[in-house]
Amino acid sequence: MAGLLAGAMGLWGCGITDVTQDSEIVHPAGEDTITPIDDSLIVVGVSQVGSESVWRTANTNSIQETFTTESGYFLIFENARQKQENQIKAIRGFISQQVDYIVFSPITEDGWDTVLQEAKDAGIPVILFDRKLNVEDESLYTTWVGSDFHEEGEKAGKWLQDYLKKVGREEEEINIVELQGTAGATAVIGRTAGFEDVAEHNENWHILDRVDGEYTTTKGKEVMRQMLAEYPEIHVVVAQNDDMMFGAIDAIEEAGYTTGPEGDIIVISFDACKNALQMIADKQLNVDVECNPLQGPYIEGIIEQLEKGEKVERETYIKEQVFDISNVEESIEERTY
Ligand code: AHR
Repeated sequence: MAGLLAGAMGLWGCGITDVTQDSEIVHPAGEDTITPIDDSLIVVGVSQVGSESVWRTANTNSIQETFTTESGYFLIFENARQKQENQIKAIRGFISQQVDYIVFSPITEDGWDTVLQEAKDAGIPVILFDRKLNVEDESLYTTWVGSDFHEEGEKAGKWLQDYLKKVGREEEEINIVELQGTAGATAVIGRTAGFEDVAEHNENWHILDRVDGEYTTTKGKEVMRQMLAEYPEIHVVVAQNDDMMFGAIDAIEEAGYTTGPEGDIIVISFDACKNALQMIADKQLNVDVECNPLQGPYIEGIIEQLEKGEKVERETYIKEQVFDISNVEESIEERTY
C-alpha cells in the first residue's frame, strides 16, 4: 500500500535516518531488522504520548494487539516519551514514508497546525485518539475517538455531591486539593472544568490548590506530601489518574492519615485500572471514574470505514462508568489492565 515504505524502512535498519533516535519503534512481530513489506498491508503510523501510566500501557497494548499483520496492518509505533517535539518528528517520519494513516494522541492541545498541514498536503488522513487538539483549520484531521473528559470531571463532582449528602456532610466546609496531569492535555482541561462546574454550585467546597502531578506515582506522592505540609485540613483529594492516586495515598498514609469511606480523607480517582478497583473494594479509595484505554478496535473500525470510502463521525465518545463500593466487586475480575 504505502509505496516508499519498504525503501525508507530499509534505511532505518542501517541507522541512516534519525527517526528512531528519541523514540522507540515497534515493528511487526517485534523484529528490529526490516523485511520488505507485503504491499497489501495497510500501513499505520502511530505516535503515542509516552508510557507514564497504567492506563497508557493498556492503551498502547490495545493498539499493538489490534494493528497486527494477521489483521492486515503494518504498524509503525513510536513512543514520544512525553515530548511534543518527538511526536512532530514522528509524524514527519510517517509523512516521508507515505504511510496510509497517521494515528496519534496529542500530548497537549496546541502547536500542531504546521505538521498537520504537511500531512494534509501529502494526502494522509490523520486520526486522533485519546486527546484532542486545537487547529485553525479543522480539516487538518479526519476524526477523533476517545473519552469525554469534561463529563468524567462532572461525574466526579456529582459523585462527591451525592456522597456528602448521603453521609450527612453536605453543609460542612469541604477543603479539596486536585492533582493534575500534564499541563495543557485534554484530559486535564476537561476533568478540571467538569469538576469545577459542579464545585461552583457548592459554596461550601473550597478548592485549595491544583498541582501538576505529571500523571505519575512518584510525582503524585511528592506533590501530595507538599500539600499535606501546607494545608492543615484536607477533606478531599481529587487525583486525575490512578497512578497519581497511588502516590497520593502513600503520602497520606505516611503522614498518619487514613483514606476511603471509613477514613479521614475522601479520595477520588480517574482511569479505573484493576489495582485501583481493588482499592475501592479494600475501602482505601472512595470512587474511580472510568477512562477506557481499550481504543485500538475503535480506531480500526474508523480505518475500515475509510477504506470502504465511507464517511466517518467527526468525534466518537467511548462509553464509561463510575465505580464505588456499591458496584465495584463484579468488575474487578474481568479488568484486564
Ligand atoms: O489522556 C488520558 C490520561 O492520560 C489518563 O487518565 C492518564 O492515566 C494518562 O496518562
